[in-house]
Amino acid sequence: MKLTVNGTEHDVDVEADMPLLWILRDELNITGPKYGCGVAQCGACTVHVDGMAVRSCQLPASNIEEGAEITTIEGLGQPGSLHAVQEAWVEHQVAQCGYCQSGQIMQAAMLLDFDPDPSDEKIDAVMSGNLCRCGTYVRIRAAVKSAAAKLNEA
Ligand code: FES
Ligand code: FES
Repeated sequence: MKLTVNGTEHDVDVEADMPLLWILRDELNITGPKYGCGVAQCGACTVHVDGMAVRSCQLPASNIEEGAEITTIEGLGQPGSLHAVQEAWVEHQVAQCGYCQSGQIMQAAMLLDFDPDPSDEKIDAVMSGNLCRCGTYVRIRAAVKSAAAKLNEA
């Protein structure tokens, strides 16, 4: 099948039931999305498919539409032109061990695409679905608010 990941088209030859996370990590060597639970519960594997945050560990190749645009943390921003959410993550030093953080950032970026000025309650409700064993949620909330302010200014 053909997949467009971070703007580059790839041809991959995989079983129909191979989850997108495996395609990204094992076939394409795109390792930003992480394997956490494998059962769509933790969010470490979150990527965007056509602008929607999805849990790539539970999205089989057969359910990915031909021509779908997939974005991982590697494609959200680039060194020198980071996405506002990535900049805010650096500014607030959100990460501790870092394992959950690419998923957190992808989830936060989609939250702001759909709600440019989320309340604290909304941020907590959305972001608590992405598990962080290091408990970075207070800094996640602060960073999402900073990113929202920056995006609204722009
Ligand atoms: S690894 Fe996909 S949700 Fe946990
Ligand atoms: S920063 Fe360690 S699990 Fe979230």
